[in-house]
Amino acid sequence: MITSQNCSICAASESLRDKAQNLSKILGLPFDVESQTSMQLMVTDDHIELRVADLGSPIWIDFTEGKNAHRRKFGGGRGQALAKAVSLKHGKTPSIIDCTAGYGRDAFVLATLGCKITLIERNPIIATLLQDALERAKSNPETAEITERMRLHNTDAKDYLQALDSQQKPDVIYIDPMYPSRAKSALVKKEMQLLHQIIGPDTDNDSLLTIALDVALKRVVVKRPKTAQPLTKQKPSSFIESKNTRYDIYF
Ligand SMILES: C[S@@+](CC[C@H](N)C(=O)[O-])C[C@H]1O[C@@H](n2cnc3c(N)ncnc32)[C@H](O)[C@@H]1O
Repeated sequence: MITSQNCSICAASESLRDKAQNLSKILGLPFDVESQTSMQLMVTDDHIELRVADLGSPIWIDFTEGKNAHRRKFGGGRGQALAKAVSLKHGKTPSIIDCTAGYGRDAFVLATLGCKITLIERNPIIATLLQDALERAKSNPETAEITERMRLHNTDAKDYLQALDSQQKPDVIYIDPMYPSRAKSALVKKEMQLLHQIIGPDTDNDSLLTIALDVALKRVVVKRPKTAQPLTKQKPSSFIESKNTRYDIYF
């Protein structure tokens, strides 16, 4: 598995050197040793991207174009399964904590539909890509208002949830753990391969769910592959299915 320790920070041009050096200090990762590491976070003029030798073209997150923009315009609004699972109906807009932010796609859908959403991502490399995408989206007129509703914290969600006081508890907690690596549907996508390589399986899902059930005011929603078992032995109260996905709901 590639770990964050095999990553260095690089600048695409001399003028970006200060920005890259600053990032290297924040992340505690070496600066400009591209040839010695299997993975690089490259600061370019447009964005921060992740380069991994085996995976070909670099990866960065973009909320303004591509899949995220398509889903914003044509994603099915409050009728889509994710929206129904978090109870976005009858004009209600719950506050949400997304404990497994990843590339921020699900969170962006929910923010597009009006939710205030706190994103938690514990991997520092993925959190860097996500923070960079959020900042760029905030200066784009089409996504500024949406991304103003999104706040990212680079920490473990279990710690974050346990530190909340009663005023800060969200209506809904959303958990999308790494799919088991056998799930082919997740592995076909290059971005998901990368998450598997950097992060590997999440081994603490059950304890995260137990804490979430204690903290959420209204419901916890867990995204699963359609044929997978629910996370813990505790049976969900309900579920909503879409093509390849099941949302287990715990009231
Ligand atoms: C399958 S991805 C989530 C994808 C995300 N729903 C999206 O739409 O892009 C799971 C992510 O959750 C993160 N994660 C897993 N357990 C976590 C925890 N306890 N605290 C914070 N982040 C966690 C992993 O590092 C990984 O980036």
